Amino acid sequence: MARTEFVAAADLNADFGAVRKAAGVLKRGGTVAIPTETVYGIAANALDPAAVGKIFEAKGRPQDNPLIVHVASLEEIEPLVTDFPAAAKKLAAEFWPGPLTIVLPKSGLVPGEVSAGLPTVAIRMPSHPIARAIIKTCGLPLAAPSANRSGGPSPTTARHCLEDLDGRVDLIVDGGECSVGLESTVITLATSTPRLLRPGAVTIGSLRRVLGAVDVDPAIDGQLPEDEQPSSPGMKYKHYAPKTELTIVHGALERFIAFVGIRHGDSAALAFDGEQERLPVPCVCYGAESNASEQARRLFAALRELDALGLGYAFARAPDASGVGMAVYNRLLRAAAFREIYL
Ligand code: TXA
Ligand code: MG
Repeated sequence: MARTEFVAAADLNADFGAVRKAAGVLKRGGTVAIPTETVYGIAANALDPAAVGKIFEAKGRPQDNPLIVHVASLEEIEPLVTDFPAAAKKLAAEFWPGPLTIVLPKSGLVPGEVSAGLPTVAIRMPSHPIARAIIKTCGLPLAAPSANRSGGPSPTTARHCLEDLDGRVDLIVDGGECSVGLESTVITLATSTPRLLRPGAVTIGSLRRVLGAVDVDPAIDGQLPEDEQPSSPGMKYKHYAPKTELTIVHGALERFIAFVGIRHGDSAALAFDGEQERLPVPCVCYGAESNASEQARRLFAALRELDALGLGYAFARAPDASGVGMAVYNRLLRAAAFREIYL
């Protein structure tokens, strides 16, 4: 691909030309990095296998990891699924548009390239005004994985997309910083009991308030044994990993300070706001200790900043894993390749 074009669309009224340009590229079978409220995605026409193939190529993504299909209205879902059960209607009424993805039995219209051969399709209705405007203007359901090179931290700004995808997509639309900062919650309704496949800003508590019983997939908290197939194929891949070798450190701040002091010279810290003055090593902060939503919003940019420090090792203060913190901890654990220390 010769060149990636970069357009601003931060102000939807002033920049509607960018939306039209994106819609044009998508209708012609091209790829566009678009802002959503969670993270930026690489979008392509979900109904065109050749266009979907370009997403896998741009990301360097394994072909057996399925994609989420993005829509702007409930009517667009009907042709994509064989059933839209009452539970899906309840979730849609409560959380859409927003950071929730629902896995449902797919219709024949969804190409096997999108679902990676599974009998299901993951569907999300994003709330970001630019994502919505682009979907409506092109009139197509859009397959869109996170717009990072496979394995690295997801992009939460257009600049991150450019770092990862320059020359690999046709267009990048700059819609400012993502407000949620972590990928959507994924729940499947294709099992007898609904099952959480990936935690996100829509918490397990709020899903249970709407649906009653919801199982948590065992792959979320642990490393799956080599021979076990996860319900969500994305779970088995190396994820969100910075180049710096990251380890999560559980324990009080005082102990953390003493611990990283020993590693002075080759290590950095990923800490909470206000802690940097007390740390004897270079430090990147990812939000206030008591504010999981802020940690979610800033985590991926912080992982990129850690890499920019160019040190061999980094040690992260462990977040509280309740509520939205479940998603923060889940991404950090994968970024750390499951390395954890208890002080
Ligand atoms: O917030 C998000 O969801 C972002 C933005 C761009 O919308 N997208 C995103 O896509 O995170 P991606 O491809 O990076 O992650 C999709 C996850 C993967 O873990 C994949 O395995 C899972 O959803 N998934 C997709 N289709 C599935 C299916 N039919 N059954 C089970 N898991 C599925
Ligand atoms: Mg991803």
